[in-house]
Amino acid sequence: MIFRQLFEPLSSTYTYLLGCEETGQAILIDPVIASMDRDLQVLQRLGLTLAFSVDTHVHADHITAALELKNKVGSKIAMPAAEQVPCADINLEEGKPLRLGSMVLNPLHTPGHTSGHFAYTFNDRVFTGDALLIEGCGRIDFQQGDADALYRSVREKLFSLPDDTLVYPAHDYQDRHVSTIAQEKKRNPRLGEDRTLEEFRNIMANLHLPFPKFIEYAVPGNKQCGICPPDVPENMAKYCQQMTESPQG
Ligand SMILES: [Fe+2]
Repeated sequence: MIFRQLFEPLSSTYTYLLGCEETGQAILIDPVIASMDRDLQVLQRLGLTLAFSVDTHVHADHITAALELKNKVGSKIAMPAAEQVPCADINLEEGKPLRLGSMVLNPLHTPGHTSGHFAYTFNDRVFTGDALLIEGCGRIDFQQGDADALYRSVREKLFSLPDDTLVYPAHDYQDRHVSTIAQEKKRNPRLGEDRTLEEFRNIMANLHLPFPKFIEYAVPGNKQCGICPPDVPENMAKYCQQMTESPQG
């Protein structure tokens, strides 16, 4: 198995590359339009062909590269069925694995950050999207976010995975790369240890987060599988342009 964790610095998003050594086929999880050329270069260097892009949810902080990748290299767009994105080629559902060569991705419905949010287990690891971040979790104040649902998704579903499962989140803002289920159970200040639902509700209701600046462009664009709206203001144009540096996550 070939695995790379790639970083997009504008939205601090991790994109994950999974490659099958036998068939030379690959999957990108949560690819970002602004780092698409870099991701394609990495695939090319590794001698891989992109078969699928897979998103964990309809993102609010960046535009997915799903559609551009399809147009450029013919990859199929896989999205959670629960996100109801009509342009998807494959609608992922819990209990129905996505198979590619020797690779098997298992979709897990983990609502709360968005109602249609999915995580994916893969061998010894889980891609947790914005449901579970390293010592944190995604916000719940947009896109049918719901504290009770997120609490259950993390505590009942993700925390029931084996303790040594590697946790790969969709973002990290402090240069951390990976955690484990055991570590999050122990150290996650919002959802770990004996945090009650009541405590979690209070924490989430008192975060006082700023309005996400790109959301009104990102969500409609991502509901179309990744279209940069024509009216993006100049100060946000970089979200739709290819990044110039090539930082490797
Ligand atoms: Fe998100």
